[in-house]
Amino acid sequence: MARRRRGTGASTYASLWRLRGFVRPYRLQMVVMLLTAVAAVAASTLIPLVLEAVVDGPIQHHDRAALVPMFFAALGLGIAEAVLIVTRRRVQAVAIQHVERQIRDDLYARLQRLAVEFHDRWQTGQLLSRATTDLSTIRRFFGFGAIYFIVDGLQYAVVMALLFATYVPLGAVVLVTTLPVIWLAKRFGAGYSLVSRRVQDQQGDLATITEESATGMRVVKAFGRAPLMQERFGTSARTLRHSSLELVRLRARFWGWLTLVPNLTMAFAVLVGGIAVAKGFLSIGALVAFTSLLVLLQFPIIDLGWILSMAQQAATAADRVCEIFDAPQTVADRPGAVTLGEAKGRLGFEHVGFHYPGSDRPVLRDVELAIEPGETVAIVGLTGSGKSTLAALPTRLYDVTSGRITLDGVDVRDLRLDSLRRHVSVVFEEPILFSMSVRENVILGRPDASDQDIADALAVAQAGFVYDLPWGLDTRVGEQGLSLSGGQRQRLALARAVVARPSVLVLDDPLSALDVNTEALVEEALARVLEGTTALLVVHRPSTVALADRVALLHHGVLAAVGTHHELMERPEYARVLAVAQDAGPVR
Ligand SMILES: Nc1ncnc2c1ncn2[C@@H]1O[C@H](COP(=O)(O)OP(=O)(O)O)[C@@H](O)[C@H]1O
Ligand SMILES: [Mg+2]
Repeated sequence: MARRRRGTGASTYASLWRLRGFVRPYRLQMVVMLLTAVAAVAASTLIPLVLEAVVDGPIQHHDRAALVPMFFAALGLGIAEAVLIVTRRRVQAVAIQHVERQIRDDLYARLQRLAVEFHDRWQTGQLLSRATTDLSTIRRFFGFGAIYFIVDGLQYAVVMALLFATYVPLGAVVLVTTLPVIWLAKRFGAGYSLVSRRVQDQQGDLATITEESATGMRVVKAFGRAPLMQERFGTSARTLRHSSLELVRLRARFWGWLTLVPNLTMAFAVLVGGIAVAKGFLSIGALVAFTSLLVLLQFPIIDLGWILSMAQQAATAADRVCEIFDAPQTVADRPGAVTLGEAKGRLGFEHVGFHYPGSDRPVLRDVELAIEPGETVAIVGLTGSGKSTLAALPTRLYDVTSGRITLDGVDVRDLRLDSLRRHVSVVFEEPILFSMSVRENVILGRPDASDQDIADALAVAQAGFVYDLPWGLDTRVGEQGLSLSGGQRQRLALARAVVARPSVLVLDDPLSALDVNTEALVEEALARVLEGTTALLVVHRPSTVALADRVALLHHGVLAAVGTHHELMERPEYARVLAVAQDAGPVR
């Protein structure tokens, strides 16, 4: 499967155009921004015309009285321009921040809906850089680039028209000297877009390295690999610097040309204008107005540099963001998916086969297993035999690639995901806690749980230690909070799974991080939970196996045997797996 994390070609503006929907609610603000910008341009364009009138009128005729109203006219225009610019900026700041927030919200929602398979493939840093830097780039474009593109285009057209109106030959000179800019801009845009994509991808790489070394800090330190990580970071940062400099060089070269063009134009205009004045075709005032207008023309031309680079960067950013919006939502509600009210909790695996996306190697083959309501089935197998994969399928973290899994006889893919996940709860090998209070962590899957529910769940999971934390249930845990031991985290994860009172409980080796004493306590509690609940329990220690009504032996993705613990003890491979597990510690 193609990994669409890296751009391959130049960006077109198609993705950026698609994002216009986010701007649509702010149509009114955009119109205000545009109108104020246009009015500001008009004010600044009128000033040279006032200048012309001053030179040809009061100055020529030494008419001081006429000078005063003209002074006020120029002053008024100047103030009007300033007020208009401030107004536009204020409207713009508010509207565009909303647009950015909306895109970010949608992006986040999308990331939440995308299947685990997507997150397996994408580096965190690439997602981070899209949700931060790329969105800011897009915001800047919609806020400034797009507006100025229109305003500058308009200014160019108006000034050009005025120049032609003043004196046609001079207008023609200016038009001819500014035309090569279009060709320059086209050439620049194509090259810039490629490098800009590279820079943005490399920013994502750098974010990934930073994120990885931050989360793996203990390992890095314990193994004394800080210098190695430093080296990796340095290499990545150097690569990014290299590409960024390339971008700067491209921009500098283009801007060099852009500044040269108006200067050359000015030189020609003064030459042609001087001759015209000498020959009496043009008044001095008109020439003054003309040169002032030419100065105004500089802005659209020089702006073109940053507008184009901003547009290119925004186009690239939009491509990168749309890659997430376009990622296929592989695990989603089917049309007509149903909600299951009460579930008895019969879990069926029917000829289930599975291979991970992007790999042809089957991890599970023809798994056939029916777990009756209330029954507990233990899955036992060597490392890599596919136990965790099997545990990920009932809640549709991945979809089976052949066969089907049923809940009360209904294919889980025909159930609404929220309904399915309310009935089936999982405890993972890695107990992840979020930066929230203990309470919020426990009720994650059931926000409406009562205090009694929480207390019961904590009791079942033998997680009474939380009452001894500094703020009890309100103690903040997770990355930004109090650090808990592996065993404590595992017990909270267990409490989180049982507080939702699921009909089916999937436990992927939930006791692996517990010490022997706590394990005995949790096992005792688990026995109570498992009583009324259908459970799929990945285990390794014989004592935990005893909690199960039946045991299924998984060998290289195939169910080699299913039966009671005593029945299976007859089989040498079963005894061997248990022995290995016993020696090697947790089966992972
Ligand atoms: N996200 C994944 N992508 C690709 N292959 C995977 C993924 N997770 C596990 N595997 C592979 O699937 C096989 C079974 O893994 P797993 O279900 O974790 O086994 P167990 O839990 O029994 O140790 C292993 O060969 C492993 O390399
Ligand atoms: Mg495992």
